[in-house]
Amino acid sequence: MNSQSSVQPSVAPFHHPTSGTWTYVVADPGTRAAAVIDPVLDYDWRSGRTGTRAADAVIGHCRDAGLEVRWILETHAHADHLSSAPYLQSQLGGVIAIGQGIRKVQATFKRVFGLGDEFTADGSQFGRLLADGDAVPLGDITGRVIASPGHTSDSVAYLFGDALFVGDTLFMPDSGSARCDFPGGDAAELYRTVQRFFALPGATRVFVCHDYAPGGREPRCETTLAEQRAANIHVRDGVTEQDYVEMRNRRDATLDVPNLILPSIQVNIRGGRLPPPEPDGVSYLRIPLDVVGRPL
Ligand SMILES: [Fe+2]
Repeated sequence: MNSQSSVQPSVAPFHHPTSGTWTYVVADPGTRAAAVIDPVLDYDWRSGRTGTRAADAVIGHCRDAGLEVRWILETHAHADHLSSAPYLQSQLGGVIAIGQGIRKVQATFKRVFGLGDEFTADGSQFGRLLADGDAVPLGDITGRVIASPGHTSDSVAYLFGDALFVGDTLFMPDSGSARCDFPGGDAAELYRTVQRFFALPGATRVFVCHDYAPGGREPRCETTLAEQRAANIHVRDGVTEQDYVEMRNRRDATLDVPNLILPSIQVNIRGGRLPPPEPDGVSYLRIPLDVVGRPL
């Protein structure tokens, strides 16, 4: 599991204020091979308009730095923002990849959204489905996939050199951990995922997928495993699985459904593509009434 090498990647973070998402461009400084992790498509829920401002900033960075994008990596099918992976791919190339657990997520939400045979829950919307331990080559750096279930069943983390991209598992130490009440979520699994992270060297740089800037501080994206082990408010050294699960489940019962869960999921299970246009040339999203929030 420890694939740390002497070559360490450069990491450029991009903050998306409306969703609190961090997108990363991770690159091998020697060969300029790069991966984009969790790119965002702008979406205004009031008007239904999508936009590429956030993605264009990532594209501009990759072009200015002369990077060759090999991968566009999702940590999971996000419920709070739409992915811009296909747009990025059209501009920069790269293989769009996600954890192989996406097939289960697709099957669940195919039912939720009442999708027909035109939608297959087989992961074929992605260029590559990744399993625990898979290699993600990036020039002279070989990234590793770490299956990280708990928040969702398709969650994966990516370890490039000393940089660990944890997706929705741990947040910054003052923010704790991701919720585990979505379909396929499981607090005990998230605890075990975090213990696998904690077995890595303490100096490992940790890059979070979200930061909601508690207390009005500046948004932050980077910490270390040592800092997490010492100070994470939900799961640090000494917190037992039972204590964590009780805290997590209690807290999850108080959380609202994310604002963009319905638009996000039905785009993200399609690999970030909008639903196929109807005969009038327009793509439509579906809103199932009185479904989300009851057992799926
Ligand atoms: Fe998430």
